[in-house]
Amino acid sequence: MQAITELALPHLAMEEPGFAANPFPHFDAARTTHPWLAHSNLGFVVTNYRAVRDLMAMEVSMRTPYDQMVDLMGARGTQWARFQEAHILSRAGPEHKRLRDILAPAFTPRKANLHRPLMREVIARLLDEWAPKGAFDFETFASWFPVTVTCRLIGAPPAAIPALRKSMEDLGLSVSMDPRFLPELEAATGVIDAFVLDLIAAREKGWQDGDEADLLDLLLQAKSDGGLSLRELADLLIFLIVAGFDTSKNVLTLTMYELVGRPEIYARCAEDLAFCGKVLDETMRFHSTTTTNRLVTADIAYRDVAIPTGTVLWFPWAIAGRDGTTIADADAFDPDRRQDHPHLGFALGAHICLGQFIARAQLAEGLHLIAQRITKPRSPGPLGWRPFPGVWGIRGLPIEFTPA
Ligand code: HEM
Repeated sequence: MQAITELALPHLAMEEPGFAANPFPHFDAARTTHPWLAHSNLGFVVTNYRAVRDLMAMEVSMRTPYDQMVDLMGARGTQWARFQEAHILSRAGPEHKRLRDILAPAFTPRKANLHRPLMREVIARLLDEWAPKGAFDFETFASWFPVTVTCRLIGAPPAAIPALRKSMEDLGLSVSMDPRFLPELEAATGVIDAFVLDLIAAREKGWQDGDEADLLDLLLQAKSDGGLSLRELADLLIFLIVAGFDTSKNVLTLTMYELVGRPEIYARCAEDLAFCGKVLDETMRFHSTTTTNRLVTADIAYRDVAIPTGTVLWFPWAIAGRDGTTIADADAFDPDRRQDHPHLGFALGAHICLGQFIARAQLAEGLHLIAQRITKPRSPGPLGWRPFPGVWGIRGLPIEFTPA
């Protein structure tokens, strides 16, 4: 048994902009030096698909380290720091279960499917507005889709969306580990916090956009039953608004990025909604958006390596599916492949994405209609990439196309 700190490990410069532009060769090279582990300035990185799964099976000996992130960012005393230490992803044990149990009934596959007409309506309206242009930045276009759906789900007025969009975009950089983003993170937290508190107050006074019970009604019921404080309710709303925004927008943009060079696959998306689901799964295996970390809270041993309490482990959910030592033809984009190793884009374990069925339904409906209305897309490629740690993705994807 060797201590993790004594291993000769490859180094991954995850925080470097060049790394974010193309992380795959760095991970491939790292695996030739050590089969499942690398070192980085932010902590140790698990580089192998099986090791990610095996270690997450030991998650009782780990927790999410948002308190450490706050310290690393020098953010104590800010609104952003308060939120980071309070939201559902930073909770553990019974506290986490209580919040998750309150939300869970609204996030079943059946509930997600009930929202499909709304998802189709939102994307159709957006396409009515954007498709006649013949050229636009796909990332900007894609950013309007999940936020509009989420606002409808939580009963927020659509008129609020433009003001919220920039704040959500900024809050998506929370796990970037880059203190330079702190002023934007703080400002964004203030905007969204004020928004959700106003929304709750208006609903409690009787205002409602439409007459159907929505997610906000469910949460208000939990509050009046004594299961949720006002602060917790507000933090859940903020988390839901942000969690579904950047992630969904980035996966849709990455999908378009892959499909502009694959016209046959793109054309099939216009014909076949079920095939869109396969394309999205393959995109999420090929490169999804999220890489998060855990703090080891009780000594663990894995493959003869001792990992002591206090170690930070990063799990690259975004690209674990590209581990060529585990997955056959890992670098081939093939939506028809047998998914013997399901992608980990929605993470694993206690915090596995609660919104995954909504995300899957929303993105499949979106891609299906986009492929019908935006035909023969071409693109010179991405303008840039977001930081790799946290929520990764393309920054600006100009496309030209033939409107249908
Ligand atoms: C393609 C889109 C999405 C991706 C790639 C994604 C990814 C993830 C990942 C990787 C996690 C776990 C992070 C960790 O363990 O450290 C997570 C958690 C979560 N996601 Fe998503 N997500 C997506 C869409 C959504 C949507 C649309 C919603 C809600 C409307 C949502 C709500 C949540 C919630 C509430 C959690 C925290 C669960 C908990 O702590 O128990 N996500 N997501």
